[in-house]
Amino acid sequence: MDHFVYRDGILFAEDVSLEAIAAAVGTPAYIYSTATLERHFRVFRDAFAPLKPLICYAVKANSNQAVLATLARLGAGADVVSGGELMRAVKAGIPSDKIVFSGVGKTTDEMRQALSTGIKQFNVESEAELDLLDAVAGDMGLTAPVSVRVNPDVDAKTHAKISTGKAENKFGVAWSAVDRIYGKIAALDHVEAVGIDVHIGSQLTELEPFKQAFAKVVDLVHHLRAAGHAIQHIDLGGGLGIPYGDGKATPPAPAHYGAMVQEALGDLDCDLIFEPGRLIAGNAGILLTKVLFIKDGEARRFAILDAAMNDLMRPAMYDAYHGFTPVIEPQTTATETYDFVGPVCESSDTFATQRTSPPLGAGQLLAIRSAGAYSAVMSSTYNTRPLVPEVMVNGDQFAVVRERQTLEALIGADTIPDWLNSKSED
Ligand code: LLP
Repeated sequence: MDHFVYRDGILFAEDVSLEAIAAAVGTPAYIYSTATLERHFRVFRDAFAPLKPLICYAVKANSNQAVLATLARLGAGADVVSGGELMRAVKAGIPSDKIVFSGVGKTTDEMRQALSTGIKQFNVESEAELDLLDAVAGDMGLTAPVSVRVNPDVDAKTHAKISTGKAENKFGVAWSAVDRIYGKIAALDHVEAVGIDVHIGSQLTELEPFKQAFAKVVDLVHHLRAAGHAIQHIDLGGGLGIPYGDGKATPPAPAHYGAMVQEALGDLDCDLIFEPGRLIAGNAGILLTKVLFIKDGEARRFAILDAAMNDLMRPAMYDAYHGFTPVIEPQTTATETYDFVGPVCESSDTFATQRTSPPLGAGQLLAIRSAGAYSAVMSSTYNTRPLVPEVMVNGDQFAVVRERQTLEALIGADTIPDWLNSKSED
């Protein structure tokens, strides 16, 4: 459930009309709902009620400071994958002892930054990373708390580009190497095993792959403990899917996921960590856009929007489905079929193909749904299109939480080297 609904024929975000926001900040613009973010966080947390897990929101899904600060106030931790995300999380008020650091390619500088911040744990993904972390921590006179991210070789049954738990994926330590790496941690002086970590993919719409992976991890915890390793935390990653409104597989409700986790863990005495991203932010945001033109091609009718693939990459990259809702509620039941496209010079700049919609006209405002996660964060300035603003709504208030990038700032980031300042040939 989200808070983008019609009121007297106009689409609102909570108590603010999207028409009013478009008038104030222009389009395209991302709009987020505080109430929806908070609701999703609470629904997820309550799914594990007696277990009191640490919910480390996956910052990569939506890293705006306003989103992070909203979640920090609810007690969220953060899962970060770069020094930049770590800095964002800390700046937004997420306590350092609630931050976990994931990712296959942490640099020396990032390790130093995380060690001096005093994060909860490093989710280590290879022996080479472990060696470097031990060296960096040793250099700083510290001991790094480590969980090994294991690769359980389980098919998440999601899009291949967002599947991470198969043996052929770059993520996690190979199952056959897990024993050795925990042995190595015990032997090294500046790393300490505190837990175990698994994340098998994103936008999972079935419980079964989670079940398989978690069963393997639980066995492993027993095995590692028997071998003398202190496993206090079990980090089960993120990945629970959200409904995108495409009428395809409906993901399990968080409560069902929670019940499955509790059953899978049995009486394993472990602190639980989760890293949900999409579930918290995905349906808490929309991309507000305007129809520029309707164009009749030979074979298709195109709705050309002012938003493009650089603003929202997901359809071009994963053939992802996003719903479209007119901001002014249609007064007709008539429909037309459109390809929704942006102005970027690529045929992949297509948000939807042959989509049924109420008839549209130039100037009309549309909300592209489910654009709170992996949307603004994945935008680029391709075609020299400035980054669009982000707006946070809270009840009857709204605030611009990232300004629209100016062309001066965008182009001004380039410099012309001295040798080009001399006279040209003609
Ligand atoms: N933890 C780790 C280690 C991850 O790699 C991810 C997502 C998450 C947690 C959060 O997963 P979530 O709960 O959001 O499914 N750009 C793609 C999604 C990439 C997901 C990357 N990792 C998309 O737009 O669908």
